[in-house]
Amino acid sequence: MNYRHAFHAGNFADLVKHATLTLLLAALRADPRPLTTIDTHAGAGGYDLDGELARRTGEAAQGIFRLMAADDAPEAFNVLKAAVRAGNPGGGVRFYPGSPSLIGAGLRRGDRYVACELRDDDVALLRETLAPFPGATVLQSDGFAAARHEASKGNRLFILIDPPFERGDDYARIAETVAAALLLDPDACIAVWLPLKDLETFDAFLRSVEPAGADLLVVESRLKPLTDPMKMNGCAMVIANAPAGLDAALTDVSVWVAGRLGEAGGKGEVWHTRA
Ligand SMILES: C[S@@+](CC[C@H](N)C(=O)[O-])C[C@H]1O[C@@H](n2cnc3c(N)ncnc32)[C@H](O)[C@@H]1O
Repeated sequence: MNYRHAFHAGNFADLVKHATLTLLLAALRADPRPLTTIDTHAGAGGYDLDGELARRTGEAAQGIFRLMAADDAPEAFNVLKAAVRAGNPGGGVRFYPGSPSLIGAGLRRGDRYVACELRDDDVALLRETLAPFPGATVLQSDGFAAARHEASKGNRLFILIDPPFERGDDYARIAETVAAALLLDPDACIAVWLPLKDLETFDAFLRSVEPAGADLLVVESRLKPLTDPMKMNGCAMVIANAPAGLDAALTDVSVWVAGRLGEAGGKGEVWHTRA
């Protein structure tokens, strides 16, 4: 396992993932019933954009730095922007929240959050990040297995699946996990982050998840036409059992990222597999 999210923190793909995450959480938390969230691939929790790893790629320059400086960013980014401001009380954009910071910060009494991570170094950072949140538990174990386990418990459930895609079977493991979780809990909301390289891989993934039976909401941000399958040409969030009423805000996110951070020929759109 070589992947470390610190190299990519705050890039365009994080903006799509984390803005979508904040919108999903707000909608799910509008329902007063307790919510269990499982983050199958949690990473370190939060990131220092001035740190060696982030500086080596500089990806945040074309992501969160652009978003925080923009005067035309849609409201759909407001919660993410507020979280960045809260993490940088002295101003500037040095610290960027990962999914654990964003999920942990909004936990209500009775909510649970299970954050899974395998790497020793990132687990140590994750434990520090989540220490202030009593509803949060860090598991140093396989997130796919943990998601199935949580789905068997009968709690109201939200699952975020965000693997590093460094294993050849990541797509298959996601599809198996989504199918298994929906079999155990047909109402679970499940959000999957995917890189967009070529259409064949993306279509094959959607076809592999469709038999699980849920309508899928697809949030696509293509930063350029998908002509080079060796590159990450964009990213997508695929959401099963998405709360109603989010399409317009998610469209704003995908269109802004593709339009402002992408190249000619890129596009953002939101669609349903059953539309
Ligand atoms: C893309 S990063 C996660 C970023 C995080 N979700 C965020 O948005 O801030 C993927 C993480 O998954 C971890 N990982 C890889 N395989 C895993 C597995 N089977 N179970 C749990 N974590 C895993 C990697 O070590 C890496 O830190």
